Amino acid sequence: MCGIVGMVNGHPVARDLVTALGRLEYRGYDSAGVAVAGPGFEVHKVIGGTTELMGKVGNGFAGHAGIGHTRWATHGRAEVRNAHPHVWDGVAVVHNGIIENYHDLRGRMIANGETFESDTDSEVIPHLIAAARKAGAAPMDAVREACTELHGAYAIAVLFQDVPDRVVVARQGSPVMVARGRNVAAVASDPSALSALCDDYAALEDGDLAELSNHGVTIFGRDGQLAQRCWQKVEGAEEEAAAGLFGSFTRAEIAAQPVALRNTDAALAGRAIPQAIADAERLVVVACGSSMYAASTVRPWIEKLTGLPCDLEIASEYRTREAPLSRGTVGILVSQSGETADTMGVMEMLKARNVPIVAVVNVQHSQMARGADLLWPTMAGKEQGVAATKSFTCQMLALIRFGLALGLARGTVTSGTLVAVERELAGLAVVCARAEMLEGQFEAVAERLVREGEALFIGRGSAAALANEGALKLKELSYLRAEAYAAGELKHGPIAMIREGSPVIVCAGAGQHAGKSLANAEEVRARGGYVIALVDDASAAAFAPVADEMIVLPGAGLGTLFAQAVAMQLIAVHAAVVLRHPVDRPRNLAKSVTVE
Ligand code: F6R
Repeated sequence: MCGIVGMVNGHPVARDLVTALGRLEYRGYDSAGVAVAGPGFEVHKVIGGTTELMGKVGNGFAGHAGIGHTRWATHGRAEVRNAHPHVWDGVAVVHNGIIENYHDLRGRMIANGETFESDTDSEVIPHLIAAARKAGAAPMDAVREACTELHGAYAIAVLFQDVPDRVVVARQGSPVMVARGRNVAAVASDPSALSALCDDYAALEDGDLAELSNHGVTIFGRDGQLAQRCWQKVEGAEEEAAAGLFGSFTRAEIAAQPVALRNTDAALAGRAIPQAIADAERLVVVACGSSMYAASTVRPWIEKLTGLPCDLEIASEYRTREAPLSRGTVGILVSQSGETADTMGVMEMLKARNVPIVAVVNVQHSQMARGADLLWPTMAGKEQGVAATKSFTCQMLALIRFGLALGLARGTVTSGTLVAVERELAGLAVVCARAEMLEGQFEAVAERLVREGEALFIGRGSAAALANEGALKLKELSYLRAEAYAAGELKHGPIAMIREGSPVIVCAGAGQHAGKSLANAEEVRARGGYVIALVDDASAAAFAPVADEMIVLPGAGLGTLFAQAVAMQLIAVHAAVVLRHPVDRPRNLAKSVTVE
C-alpha cells in the first residue's frame, strides 16, 4: 500500500511526478505529496489525490529531481502533516511499508532534541539519514547506514536539498522498480506508472540500493557492490477500461469481464503442468479477501477434477499457525496484485519448507509471479477500481483450468469430463455478457438494500462460498452491513437477525442444492424476511412462489455461478451509486495490501 515515485530529469519534474503518482493511486489515495530539488527545494502535500496535487503543483515547480507519494494511512490519520514526503534537515523521504521499531527510534531522537511533525512510522527515516549526512556520509552511504537501523518493510526514495541532482532508493520487503528512459532515471512502486516516460525497468531485490542521476540508474546489492538486475521493457499503458462510458472504472471492469475471461482462457488452455506439481498429494490454496472467495467458490471443481483434497487457508492466519504440512503438498497462491503482504509471507514460509508453489496472479511483474515455481496467470488486464471484479471471475476460471490441467496430468479426467468442462468454460464469457444485460433488475435490488440498510446473502455448495463475495462487494462499495452464510447454517443462529422486511439474497441453481436452499428461503419468508432469489432457469419455477423478487440468470452449472458473481457486483455498484459513494475508491481501502 502507498505508492512512491522518484525522478531525475533534464527539465522540471513535478508534473511528471504527479502524473506517475496518478497511476499509483490504486495503492492508496488519502493524501499525496511531492518534493522537488535543483533549483530550489520545494515540498507540497495535499489531502486527497493527485488531481488536488496537480492543482497545487501547477507550473510553478522548477526542480529537475523529485520524489512523490500517494498514501494509504497506517500510522496516523489522513492529515497533511502525516502525508509524505517527510522532511528533516534537508532530507526528504517517501516510504512504502512499515517501520516496526519506529517507536524506539523516535524516542531516542526526541531525547536528542529532534522534533516530529507527524504520527507516522516513516518520519524517523529522514532523521536517520540526516544524522548520517551530518556525520559526513555521502548520500548513498547515509541511506545505507540509516537502513541498518530500520526493522520492518520499506521501499524508500530520498531527495537531498544539498545534492539536488539525484534520488537514492532502498528496498527491503516492499516492491519497487527503477526505470530508465531518454534523459530520465526513475523509480516507482509499479512500472506502469512510468510507461509514458521510461523504456525499461528492473525490480530491486531486498537489500538493494540504487542511485538515480543524470547519468542514469546505478544499482548496488546488499554487499555494497555494483549489482546487475534483470531489465525488462516497460509495457505501454495497458488498454484501460473506459470509465467515462460507464460512470466508474469498476463498472467498466464488470463490463470487460467477457474479454478478460476469453484472454485468460486463451492463455491457459492446453498449458501443461510440470511433474513436480503433477505429483501433488494434497493442495493448499492460500489467499486473502476476494481471491480467497474465488478459490473457495471453485474448490469443488478442483477437487473433482484432480481427485486431490484441496485445503483453503486465509493467508494472514495461515502464516502464523505453523500448520503441519503433509508430504506431497503443493501450495497455490491466488492474488490479483501479486504483492499482498500476507500471501507473500506464506510464499516465503512455503519456500523455506520446499513446497512447490503455483501462483495464480494477475500482475505478472509482481514478486509473487516471479518467485513461483509455476506462474498460472489470469489475464484480466489492469484493474483500476479498488474492488475486485474482473480479476475475481478470471481467478475462478484460471483455477478451474488449473484443476483440469492437473487432472489431465494425473489421469483423473475422463474424455467425457474434459469435453463437458471445456464446453462450460467456452460459454462463460457470453453468460457474463448476458447477465450484465439484466442491470435494471440489479439496480432495483440495490435500491431496496439501501432502503433497508443491510443484506444477508445465502446459498449452498459453491453458491455458499460465492455469497461471501456478494457480501464483501456490498460492504466495500456501499458500506452497508452485509453478511453471508451457508444457507443450512441460518437456523443455527443467524436466523435470529431476520425481521419484517430483512432483505435476504438467495443464490440457487442446479448443482447448488437449490431444493434445500428453497426450504431455507421458505424459513426466511416465514419470519417476515424479503427473499430476493438469484436463480437459474431450472430453479425458477420452484422459487417463484417463495421469492419476493426473482432474477432468472443466464447460464447453467458453472455458468450460473459466473452470472451470480456479475449480479452481485452490479448490485454493489448500484448501491454505492445510490448512496453517492466513490465507486472506484471506497473509503479506507487500497488495491494492493502490502502491510500485514
Ligand atoms: C475485494 C478485494 C480484496 C482483495 C484482497 C487480496 O474487492 O479486492 O479483498 O481481493 O485484498 O488482494 P490480492 O488479490 O491482490 O492478493
